[in-house]
Amino acid sequence: MAVLEAFDLYKFFHTPESETLALRGVSLKLDAGELVTVVGPSGSGKSTLLACLSGLDEPDGGYVELLGERLTRRSEADRACRRGAHVGIFMQSRNLFPSLSVADNIRLVMSVARKIDNDRAKQLLVDVGLADRETARPGQLSGGELARAGLAVALAAAPRILLADEPTGEVDVVTESAILDLLGEQCRAGVAVLVVTHSEALTVRADRIIHLRDGRMSNA
Ligand SMILES: Nc1ncnc2c1ncn2[C@@H]1O[C@H](COP(=O)(O)OP(=O)(O)OP(=O)(O)O)[C@@H](O)[C@H]1O
Ligand SMILES: [Mg+2]
Repeated sequence: MAVLEAFDLYKFFHTPESETLALRGVSLKLDAGELVTVVGPSGSGKSTLLACLSGLDEPDGGYVELLGERLTRRSEADRACRRGAHVGIFMQSRNLFPSLSVADNIRLVMSVARKIDNDRAKQLLVDVGLADRETARPGQLSGGELARAGLAVALAAAPRILLADEPTGEVDVVTESAILDLLGEQCRAGVAVLVVTHSEALTVRADRIIHLRDGRMSNA
């Protein structure tokens, strides 16, 4: 079953100096339990695609369906509610509130989705190897710890879909392997995982690879 589907997405950015066509007709389908990676050069539209798929941003053309219902061209509040209930997001620009501890960041996402579960929060911290850092604020964590905390927050509300933008971008090989294992476990549990990545190790594990170039999908 398709849990997330995009139909002919277009996205333009206008600035006084230029106009960028960040997405030019991207269509894709994500099934439950799939691990799909998105690869492409810097500026090819990967983060823009994730923002449109999650409803954080609105495409200028085309639309997105989340669990069979249109997500696009709804109010921001409506999109946020649907996203909070079903989609976990790991952002390149971080998805953590700096003033909250790691544990409180997890609890905040749970409470927004009305899925408070203290046992799950504890288990997530153990899964990402941060059980002893739960009271630390993001500014007190290393790059690799931040990545793992971000992933725990993305998974806090037990999402059906995980969208992750370079979750292994700034981590060592051991952390990368731990993150890969965690993503694999999520897929086996039926979560659809779409990951933007430059990691070879992650791409070889993918069920499918989406190549982006200049805002278009290409075969390689
Ligand atoms: N808010 C914005 N305003 C103007 N242009 C933007 C904006 N966001 C992205 N762009 C432009 O859209 C294009 C796609 O950007 P995007 O961030 O999606 O690339 P990316 O593939 O994620 O790159 P990277 O690998 O460097 O993260 C780029 O040319 C970028 O400069
Ligand atoms: Mg990006």
